[in-house]
Order: sequence, then C-alpha cells, then structure tokens
Amino acid sequence: MKIRIITAVLLVACVSTARAATDEPIQPIQLVKEINLAKADLGKQLFFDGRLSRSGILSCATCHNLAQAGVDNLQYSVGDRWKLDDINTPTVYNSSLNFVQFWDGRASDLQAQAGGPIGNPVEMGGFTHVIVTDVLKTMPGYVTEFNEVYGTNDISFDEVTGAIAEFEKTLKTPNGRFDHWLRGDKNAIDAQELAGYQLFKSIGCSACHNGEGVGGNSFQKLGVFAPYKTNNPAEGRYDVTKKDKDRMTFKVPMLRNVALTYPYFHDGAARTLHDAVETMGRIQLGRKLTPKENGEIVAFLKTLTGEFPSIVLPQLPAGSDATPLSQPFAGTPEAHHFQ
Ligand code: HEC
Ligand code: HEC
Repeated sequence: MKIRIITAVLLVACVSTARAATDEPIQPIQLVKEINLAKADLGKQLFFDGRLSRSGILSCATCHNLAQAGVDNLQYSVGDRWKLDDINTPTVYNSSLNFVQFWDGRASDLQAQAGGPIGNPVEMGGFTHVIVTDVLKTMPGYVTEFNEVYGTNDISFDEVTGAIAEFEKTLKTPNGRFDHWLRGDKNAIDAQELAGYQLFKSIGCSACHNGEGVGGNSFQKLGVFAPYKTNNPAEGRYDVTKKDKDRMTFKVPMLRNVALTYPYFHDGAARTLHDAVETMGRIQLGRKLTPKENGEIVAFLKTLTGEFPSIVLPQLPAGSDATPLSQPFAGTPEAHHFQ
C-alpha cells in the first residue's frame, strides 16, 4: 500500500515536470539519434574537400566554418573567383532541425540542399554531378570508402549528397544555458535573461521563433507592420512559388547560437543583435522596444548558445596521378573535365 502511494506521488511529480517543459514554446535540443557513423564520416571528408569545387579550394567549410559557428560572419560569402554571393550564409549547425532548407525553402531536406552549392557557379564554381563523381573516382581512398558505405564500386552524386547530409545531422549544439533552464535548472539564466525570455513570449516573438530550433519551422512575412527596406532583390518564398501572397516571405531563421552568427537577416544588413531585435520589434510586431527591453531580449538570445561538438579534422584521401589539378583562376568547369 505504502509503496503504491509513493509510486503515485512520483508519477504526479514526473507528469508535472514534463508539463512545465512542454508548456514553453521552445524545447531543448535533443541529442543526435540514429546516425550511420561510416556514412557521416565519409560526409565529413566531403564537407571539408575543396576538390568538389571548380577552383579546388572552396569546400562547404569555407563558408560554413565549423570552428566559427558554421558561418563566415560576412554579409555575403566569397565564392568562385572572388565573386560575392547574393544572400547571407546561414549556419549549418542544427540545420537538420529546419523544416526546409534555404531562406526561401527551395530544398526539401539536407540531401537536396547539398547539391545546390556544388552546382552553383558563384558558390563552388558549378561542377556538374558527373564532374564531381568523376573527380572522386580518381581517388582510390574515396572509391574504397564509398564501396564500404554504399556497397557499390560506382560513386553516384546521390551518394555524395547523402553522406554530406548524414554528417550534417551530427552538427547539433545541445545543452545551452537556456536548455538547462528549460530542463529545470532555475539558476542557469539570470534575472535579466529571464525577463528577456518573458518579453520574447509576451510581445509575440515566439509566435514565429519557437520549437527546438527557436525558428526554422515556418515561412513568415518579413515586414508585417512596416516594409523591410533593402537593396537585396530576393523576395523569399515568392521566388519559388511566384504567388503574390509569398512576396517577402522567408523561412524564419533558427535563433540557436544567434549571438555568434552575425550579421543578421537574409541581406546581412543588421550588424548587431541589438539592431536585429530593434528591427524585428518594429516591423514584425509594430512595437518600439525601449533600450531596457532590447537589452533584456539580447541577453536572453545569448543564452541560446549551445555546446558545439568536438570535430576531429578528417584526413582527406590522396589524389592519384589521374586526379586533375585545379586552376583556381582559369578554365570553365568543362575545361577541367578529363579528355
Ligand atoms: C560560397 C559560400 C558557400 C559554400 C561554399 C557553401 N555554402 Fe551552404 N550556403 C551558402 C549560402 C549563401 C546559403 C543561403 C542560400 C539561400 O538560402 O539561397 C547557404 C545555405 C546552406 C544551407 C541551408 C541552411 C538553412 O538554414 O537554410 C545548408 C544546409 C548549407 N548551405 C550546406 C552547405 C554544404 C553541405 C555545402 C558544400 C556542399 C555548402 N553549403 C557550401 C553559402 C555557401
Ligand atoms: C511574424 C513572424 C516573426 C516575428 C513575430 C518575429 N520574427 Fe524574427 N524573424 C522572422 C523572419 C521571417 C526572419 C528572417 C528575415 C529575413 O529574411 O532576413 C527573422 C529574423 C530574425 C533574426 C535574425 C536571425 C538571423 O540569423 O539572421 C532575429 C535575431 C530575430 N528574428 C529575432 C526576433 C525577435 C527578438 C522578435 C521579437 C521582437 C522577432 N524576431 C519576431 C520572423 C519573425
């Protein structure tokens, strides 16, 4: 009898903690589950390998520097032949939490996304799928690894992007101070940070920025109360759907590690978190935040910085005599191809 009562009390206690956590619009980042380690390891090598690019020197890691919160902290990244990209580079950390990829959501998942930069003439120089796989096939180390992971002697482009996507799933940053708070450690954030979180909820930021990623799960209009002024021609979702209702509608960015991923917005126009929060309050919520309120929200946003995984640098497979040497400033993708 006694034991039964204790069990009942414990059950109630568990339920109420669980409810406290789910009542919040933000949930802690879950640990990485179900990773194919061999595939992710192959993907890590491809992520760091400049030989997937026309110039031979631009890898995914060039713009998504994993030692720099997965970004390059530039307004626009520099790509092939020093050309400027036309939209700000988002981080790859936690990108597996995005419901779709890119600011306009044009890629449905990470695998579909990974083909984009390789084929993009500005970003990595526009190698075709065939060139990429032909280059990889000249390197015996890759041939062996693709065989071990996929069980075929051929290398397909889908296998390349599949491996990169598997590696990206490991790029999660759990256990930030705010996650500790969500899990019940009331001392994990201070009074100013807590006040910032209360405001974030009460004035409506969390209507768009919520869930595990604090964003990344819906498209929303940029400029609900006042238009967003920019020279950048991107119109977000409209560029994909060509429907008027989608003009200036963007995927809501995640705010995980946002203190580290400046500058902000798709045009990289806001240098500081203070600027970004001021703009959001004004154009998304029709609200002029006081300096105190702005400071509190910024303090809260800084608690969203998580623990970055320790990433051991991969040693890339050596090229063979048949591996073409890239000429960073000469040639077209086709000229680089084997005769
Ligand atoms: C020259 C810089 C550059 C290189 C190289 C590059 N990217 Fe990106 N990446 C960007 C930019 C810019 C965007 C945003 C493009 C857009 O939304 O239209 C982006 C978007 C992404 C996204 C979507 C994130 C989100 O929140 O929507 C992922 C994932 C990503 N890149 C992974 C990769 C991978 C994998 C590679 C290598 C195969 C790579 N990138 C190479 C600049 C780069
Ligand atoms: C109606 C939906 C909505 C509301 C409400 C909203 N946001 Fe946003 N937020 C967005 C969208 C969409 C973007 C991306 C804008 C773009 O295209 O650059 C964004 C971008 C941001 C960014 C820049 C992130 C980055 O990586 O570039 C920050 C910071 C931010 N919001 C914070 C806030 C705060 C703080 C509030 C409350 C004051 C708020 N947002 C309210 C939709 C919203």
